[in-house]
Amino acid sequence: MNASFNQSILAQIMRTSPNSVSRAITTLGIEPIESETSHNKRYTVESARKITDHLFASTKRPIKQCTQVFYNFKGGTGKTSLCYQVSTHLALLGFRVLALDLDPQGHLSHALGLAEDWNGPTIYDILIHDLPLEDALLSVTDGFDLLPANISMTRIEVPLSSKTKREEKLRLLLDPIKDQYDFIIMDTNPTISTLNMNALVASDRVNIVCETQPFSLNGLRVLVDEMISFYEDMRTEPNYCIIPNKYEIKTASAQEVLGALRNQYGHTVLSAVVRKSEDINVANKKHLPIAAFCKSKSPAFEDVMDLVHTLIEQSQNISQSTNKVA
Ligand SMILES: Nc1ncnc2c1ncn2[C@@H]1O[C@H](COP(=O)(O)OP(=O)(O)OP(=O)(O)O)[C@@H](O)[C@H]1O
Ligand SMILES: [Mg+2]
Repeated sequence: MNASFNQSILAQIMRTSPNSVSRAITTLGIEPIESETSHNKRYTVESARKITDHLFASTKRPIKQCTQVFYNFKGGTGKTSLCYQVSTHLALLGFRVLALDLDPQGHLSHALGLAEDWNGPTIYDILIHDLPLEDALLSVTDGFDLLPANISMTRIEVPLSSKTKREEKLRLLLDPIKDQYDFIIMDTNPTISTLNMNALVASDRVNIVCETQPFSLNGLRVLVDEMISFYEDMRTEPNYCIIPNKYEIKTASAQEVLGALRNQYGHTVLSAVVRKSEDINVANKKHLPIAAFCKSKSPAFEDVMDLVHTLIEQSQNISQSTNKVA
């Protein structure tokens, strides 16, 4: 990941004071990557991870909802954008992260640095041709791995559907490596597919990314009902949250939709709402975590940080935060 960060932004990501970051940098002897002026010192992802380890290693609590999927069978709700921002900022915070790109469009892989025509091994080769998982993993940076995707995965549905325990293949694949990561974060394609059913079964938690527009509510009802009945068939309970995205604060209809979401889905709707913001589009175009380029008062940065810290907190306090539907 070709990104760098200034001290003030690092302090905001870590929710600590700039002085603490500054002291950690001095204690660890970390050098900035640019030093044109003393006010423009910037640090790599690797440095950020060392600083977090130094400041928080002893207070980090174990993650209990390690495997999470960003899900919605409606296209364009912001699954990949939020999946990218969450996984990169978790990596910056020193967590061990595996990003799984399960969308043949490969947008997450592309954002994490792969060329659009990249044609190496994917989940297709692993689930259909028994390629060992580790042979397909790429390292984004120390402690941050990617299982990439490409267009060849569109062929996965037919052979996957004919396998026994076809919805459980991914869970069985991930179970043995779960201990190697704090978070396994999956991006999905906008369909109801056997591959996406695998993602649901493998997940400890489903993060439904929902737009805050009037026509989103009906689609969401169908999605949640389908998901609950799928989990019933699998004899397990869904654990999900709804992330309201593209919220337009000044629009009455968006406020109504948010109110309706909270009425219908209660505490499953995160208070960490992500506002509509040009910085998210810019981040996608630049292939950068928002923290690498935003101004410190950026709404997108604030919202992504709220989201990341909410997901961390809820993943640590499984008994307090589960949104299980009976
Ligand atoms: N909070 C936001 N503010 C502004 N634009 C956003 C926001 N979230 C996502 N977008 C934009 O919406 C578009 C769709 O986003 P994205 O590709 O993340 O959706 P998706 O759900 O992954 O789509 P698909 O279903 O095709 O995989 C992109 O142009 C992205 O930049
Ligand atoms: Mg996507």
